Amino acid sequence: MKKSISTFLKHPSKDNTNRSANPPVARASTILFDSLQEIKRHEKKVNAHKKVSHYSYGRYGSSTTIELENILKELEQAYHIFLTGTGFGGVALALMSVCRPGDEILVSDNVYGPTKEISQRLLKEFNITAKFYNPVRFDDLKNKVSKKTRLIVVENPGSNTFEFQDLSKIVNLARRKKILTFLDNTWGTPLYLKPLKIGFDMSFSSATKYFSGHSDAMGGSLAVNKKVYKRVMFFYKLSGYRMAADEAYLIIRGLRTLDVRLKQHYENTKKVINFLKKQKKIKEILYPYKPGSKDYKLWKKYYSGGTGLLSIVIKSKKKSSVIKFVNSLELFGIGYSWGGYESLAILQELRKSGEFLKERYFYRFNKDEHIVRLHIGLEDPKDLTQDLKNSLKHVK
Ligand SMILES: Cc1ncc(COP(=O)(O)O)c(C=O)c1O
Repeated sequence: MKKSISTFLKHPSKDNTNRSANPPVARASTILFDSLQEIKRHEKKVNAHKKVSHYSYGRYGSSTTIELENILKELEQAYHIFLTGTGFGGVALALMSVCRPGDEILVSDNVYGPTKEISQRLLKEFNITAKFYNPVRFDDLKNKVSKKTRLIVVENPGSNTFEFQDLSKIVNLARRKKILTFLDNTWGTPLYLKPLKIGFDMSFSSATKYFSGHSDAMGGSLAVNKKVYKRVMFFYKLSGYRMAADEAYLIIRGLRTLDVRLKQHYENTKKVINFLKKQKKIKEILYPYKPGSKDYKLWKKYYSGGTGLLSIVIKSKKKSSVIKFVNSLELFGIGYSWGGYESLAILQELRKSGEFLKERYFYRFNKDEHIVRLHIGLEDPKDLTQDLKNSLKHVK
């Protein structure tokens, strides 16, 4: 029977050994074979890059990680899924596996800080040069393409400032110039945007965020098409990347309710934004919340839903009062990460983000404008709004 993705996420594959509704955690280093001949047959297929399961030794997965790969393969419409122990491992895997000395990569200026740092610092040590392009000017990307460009690295929307880009334009440019493409899709998840279907070669999500959804597991998923599969597999196997079975179990468990949770995050976010947009102290809401708001058209063009992460720009000459606003929130936790069931708030100091990053090249906020990133969780939005109302009083 043809199932919708919501139904598919609720129905695990059958566990014939234990008969438990949810397949258990299979921890394994040693995987047993029936005979030496069976090992040989298996290795022959793997070495010939046949699309077979690499299930032969714990480093290449266990039945639990394979179950997660299968779920994500369907969700991403991917040729293959590579799982990593943290989200960032998936970014590193993508960049390190397809680039070679002498290559250049073009990176959107608004990517997650460590993505910028690996591009700028680590790849440089391998003679791979990163150039950053302005995410709101397609021309800038186009003009920076050279004969050496190997990869375009996009994050949509950008971390903290949430610019959306015209994804098909990037894919078309890359195809014309024979450049590979990577998209960090952690915000929208493959439920709301399928990068491989648009034509990206690699689609990445930090599974730590909405996939797991409960702030207690870490992982990464790199979905790839056939074109880059061999290259990424080569690097994956020889670099020891892997996801632990326990984390895979928690992420599978989270994925069962991904659709339901995201719907609620979105509903709550809209209600909180209804309050935020009336506040004079808030200069801008960085979220595509209504026609005419920043990048609404681009969001609508590509996404089938919205999630719970946004930033607000607060205008204040007294930064200390903005700090007081964040510190006095009762329901919003103060911490990194997002995508769990709970609300979070953090002041993003982009001008100083990272010792080596200096500031964003295309940074467009003034000194008295402060960015507070909010993750709207699954609490009652009335309580969240009240909490924000009480704390905004501190902004002077
Ligand atoms: C957009 C984005 N990409 C990648 C990552 C890295 O994921 P992880 O923290 O699971 O390593 C993060 C983490 O915050 C993120 O926000």
